[in-house]
Amino acid sequence: MLGPVILAASRSDRMRRLVSAAPVTKPVVDRFIPGETVDQIVPIVRDLTDQGLELTMDVVGEDITTPAQAEAARDAYLELIDRLKPLELGTRAEMSVKLSMFGQALDGGHELALANVRPVVEAAAEIGTTVTLDAEDHTTLDSMFAIHEELRKDFPQTGCVIQAYLFRTEADARRLADSGSRVRLVKGAYKEPAEVAYQQRHEIDKAYVRILRTLMEGEGYPMIGSHDPRLISIGQELARTAGRKLDEYEFQMLYGIRGDEHLRLAAEGHRMRVYTAYGTDWYGYFMRRLAEKPANLRFFARSMVSK
Ligand code: FDA
Repeated sequence: MLGPVILAASRSDRMRRLVSAAPVTKPVVDRFIPGETVDQIVPIVRDLTDQGLELTMDVVGEDITTPAQAEAARDAYLELIDRLKPLELGTRAEMSVKLSMFGQALDGGHELALANVRPVVEAAAEIGTTVTLDAEDHTTLDSMFAIHEELRKDFPQTGCVIQAYLFRTEADARRLADSGSRVRLVKGAYKEPAEVAYQQRHEIDKAYVRILRTLMEGEGYPMIGSHDPRLISIGQELARTAGRKLDEYEFQMLYGIRGDEHLRLAAEGHRMRVYTAYGTDWYGYFMRRLAEKPANLRFFARSMVSK
């Protein structure tokens, strides 16, 4: 019930100002976004990789309004990649990017986003790693998939995300599985209308399993993005049935959510990648995490009252 309300608030400037300014917000935010600067995040990268985990790094931010902000976003990723270079982690630390942060929604946004993301993909390739394009709301996806296809001409390892809640995704999965892509499958985190997306949890879960089967039986590299214990064990089963070895797919979870499970899967020999977000423009990312689990909101509200 609360989820859609919080997702609507995630797009409100007034709520952004209120929540961002509340002094109690910060400790709750830290659970999901463990740093604001590159200096703060690099030791965390070292610590997580020392524990046998792999990472995908997200510099938080989206819905920017000027080309200069899009260039600043590009530069933030370039700085991060530069700082990761001496750690020589290769694909153990890859990047996740939101094209809206690279200017996709501005005038001429498709070209602008492509122009801004390309240097990031190039820089990532230079340090032996890769980039995955996150999936945002459904109106952005044709552009995202076109940019993905374009980037793959020069950088075939570039990944993308598909969302099980969208009706279109089964067809997208077949196309991507045939082309040998790296594909992260998630349930989907945006408020989408009933014309384009399943609304019931059980329908989304069933679609997730169908799509994951397509990815596992295909020629690509499936990345199982979920904390759902049932889907994780179904994922393992589908991988076994499809004859995939442990290095032919991976699990991905968000920093701050089910941390014990990250370590358990890694200890079992699975490739386990933690989506680690950092930066100052954390509002949209943070609100989606609240919307996914109402208990987070209760924790947040309790901390507001107790201060
Ligand atoms: P579900 O929501 O059913 O959660 C299963 C269990 O996990 C819960 O019962 C709870 O224990 C725990 N849990 C889940 N979310 C939690 C939270 N916020 N706080 C505390 N506990 C929580 N979406 C998108 O639209 N585009 C994208 O590009 C991405 N990228 C992405 C990358 C990675 C690595 C992950 C794991 C997820 C995404 N997502 C995403 C988010 C995704 O769409 C989805 O909203 C969340 O993963 C929650 O769905 P689950 O599959 O975890 O199941």
